[in-house]
This record gives sequence, structure tokens and C-alpha cells, in this order.
Amino acid sequence: MRDHWTLDTIAWEEFDRSKLDPNLVKLMKAASLVEYNATDYVEYLRKVFHNQPQVMAILDRWGAEEVQHGAALGRWAELADPTFNFKDSFARFRKAYHPPHFENADGSVRGSRIGELIARCVVECGTSSGYTAIRDAAEEPVLKQIAGLVAADEFAHYRLFLDLMDTQAEAKPGFWRRLWIAKTRVAESEDDELATAYYCANVPAHREHEIKYDRDACNLAYQSSMFRHYRRRHVERAVAMIGKAIGLHPESNFIKLGGRAVWEFVRFRVWRFGPVRELKVA
Ligand SMILES: [Fe+2]
Ligand SMILES: [Fe+2]
Repeated sequence: MRDHWTLDTIAWEEFDRSKLDPNLVKLMKAASLVEYNATDYVEYLRKVFHNQPQVMAILDRWGAEEVQHGAALGRWAELADPTFNFKDSFARFRKAYHPPHFENADGSVRGSRIGELIARCVVECGTSSGYTAIRDAAEEPVLKQIAGLVAADEFAHYRLFLDLMDTQAEAKPGFWRRLWIAKTRVAESEDDELATAYYCANVPAHREHEIKYDRDACNLAYQSSMFRHYRRRHVERAVAMIGKAIGLHPESNFIKLGGRAVWEFVRFRVWRFGPVRELKVA
């Protein structure tokens, strides 16, 4: 088992305010809340894999690493923006965001355990490529270090869920079903989770009455800020990783074409967004 980094691994003393990018600060404030909330996912996945005791220890370790991502990013965000209070923002996020499947599901909302693992692979692949893009874009040295550590963890998580798929006795769903599960999970990145986190992280409680929560506006602000950091290599790698999770060869023409198409889509979106969108007083 690999040694894992801790908050003490991070060279906090190297923090350099002059190299901050205000948009990256906003993004990392939001990311810290989502990461720190991982214990709900652990509980949900525990229910999904309830009769597989060997999976429980893996889930606990995974959840602890995600929570640590939140703690590291939250601490960095408080340094970068002294008006940001990580614990208070997290409490507001917990109150505002309750996906129904955390409370009601007794099985996987993806229809099968393999489906659940495909969805997890999609998420880990998204975070892995996202933090790699942040690492490459960040000039502030502490954020660069944290994003590099987190990106490596996210890739390890992807491998972990990919390997778990091979240990499942159930039959794999057919290819089109697997593709559908991956597509559905990608589309869910525009649901309320990131949008609520962006809102709670970047709109202080005393301004909630004048800047109301608007999912589309929050997603637009988040995406117009995040998408511009992706480079072709990040996108193509993400597509190859998702492709592998649904059973496609990463070197296949389907994946190569898919990678190119998604990269063109990202470029188009960045062009359409124009400047980074701000949350405005209604
Ligand atoms: Fe994470
Ligand atoms: Fe992860």
C-alpha cells in the first residue's frame, strides 16, 4: 500500500500571494466543499456494496483521501482569500445540497454495481484531469503542489474502481448501456452539486438575499472559469480513461476521434463563454 501524503507534506511557507489567480481561488473554494463532503458518498457506496466486506476498507480509505483533498484545498483557499471561512461555507453547502439517492437508495442508482463503478471511474477521471489542468495552469506554488498531489490520488482512485470492476461476479452490462451510464454521469456534472458548492463558497451568507442561488448562473460561472484551463492533452487523456472504463481500447480510432471531438467542443465552449462569468446581483 502506498504511503499517503498529509497536510504537513505541503510547503505552506512557500505561499506567494503575488502569484494568485482570482478565478482559480474561486474554483478551489468550491472544489474544497465538494471534496470534503465525500463521507456521504462513502455511506452510499457502503450500501451498494453491502455484502462485500473486502470493499469496505477500500471505500473508507478512498473517502478519507477525498476528505483530505477538501481539507488541503480549504486551508489553501483560506490563505488565498482571508474572507473565506471553510467550515462556515461547508456547513451552508451541507444544508443546501441533498441528492435524493444519498437518503433513499438501497441499491445503486446506476442499476448495477458495475454501473456504479463506471460512474465512479468517470468522476475520478474528471477530477484527475481537472486537477492536472489546475496544476499546469497554477503559478502559485502551494496550489501547484496541492493540485499535483490531488491529481495523482484521483488517478489512483480511478484505477481502484477500475480494478474493482474485475472483482464483481455480475455480468457486465452491454456496451451501449455502459456508454449510456458514462454519458449520464458526465451530464450530471451540470447538476446542483458543483453549482451549490460554487455558490456557498463564493457568495458570503450576508449577501445571499441579493445574489440568489441560480443553478445555471453558477454552472456558467464555474465552467467559464474552469474550461479555459484545459489543454488538448488533458482532454484526450480523460476521454481515453473513460473509454477504457467502458471497455474500449485507449488506442482505438473511436477513442482518438472522441478525444479530438471533445477537445473541439471544449474550445468551442470557451470561445462561446467569452470572459469568465461572474455571479451578479439579480
Ligand atoms: Fe478528490
Ligand atoms: Fe477521487
